[in-house]
Amino acid sequence: MSFILVYYRAGFYCDYSTIILMEKMAFEIHIVSVAALALLILTNIIVVLTQKNDLKLRKYLRIQATAWSAVLSIVVFTGMIFMAAVQTGFTVKIIAMIAATVALITLETRRHFDLKRAKPESECFVKFRKRVLRYYILELLWLLMVAGLAPHLP
Ligand code: HEM
Repeated sequence: MSFILVYYRAGFYCDYSTIILMEKMAFEIHIVSVAALALLILTNIIVVLTQKNDLKLRKYLRIQATAWSAVLSIVVFTGMIFMAAVQTGFTVKIIAMIAATVALITLETRRHFDLKRAKPESECFVKFRKRVLRYYILELLWLLMVAGLAPHLP
């Protein structure tokens, strides 16, 4: 009884040490993937500022979107594993993190549709560059704000 704490509907038993390991691993990967996402967004800002060729920038933004989605999925997935392992429920810090995730997805979706509409080598691409820079700065601010606040929230 002492070592079998959780019975999953799927039909296997999970002892306490397994839960502790899951919790530790999910937390570590969560933090590392948050840092990776911040680095990716920072790289995007630098590329938007330094890449003067519109076609190359468009290609870069399309390719990075795959990495962006993959890293954010890892953040969400590991967060959910931690929630399940520790049974945290919806605390203030978790609600803040979910709000940040929704904000990031909204900004990246807008960036995606703006890129679809923008024509390289035209005046509208100059405007697009300014907008995309604003989106990435907002994404970075959301990420840093929530990552900085989370340890202090209940
Ligand atoms: C922009 C997205 C996110 C950022 C920047 C972020 C950042 C962080 C940080 C910095 C911590 C450590 C907090 C601490 O030491 O107390 C943390 C913990 C955690 N995160 Fe996230 N997170 C994000 C998204 C999510 C999502 C989507 C979920 C869940 C679905 C989630 C679930 C958790 C959980 C359960 C913890 C552990 C909380 C605790 O110790 O009580 N996070 N996150």
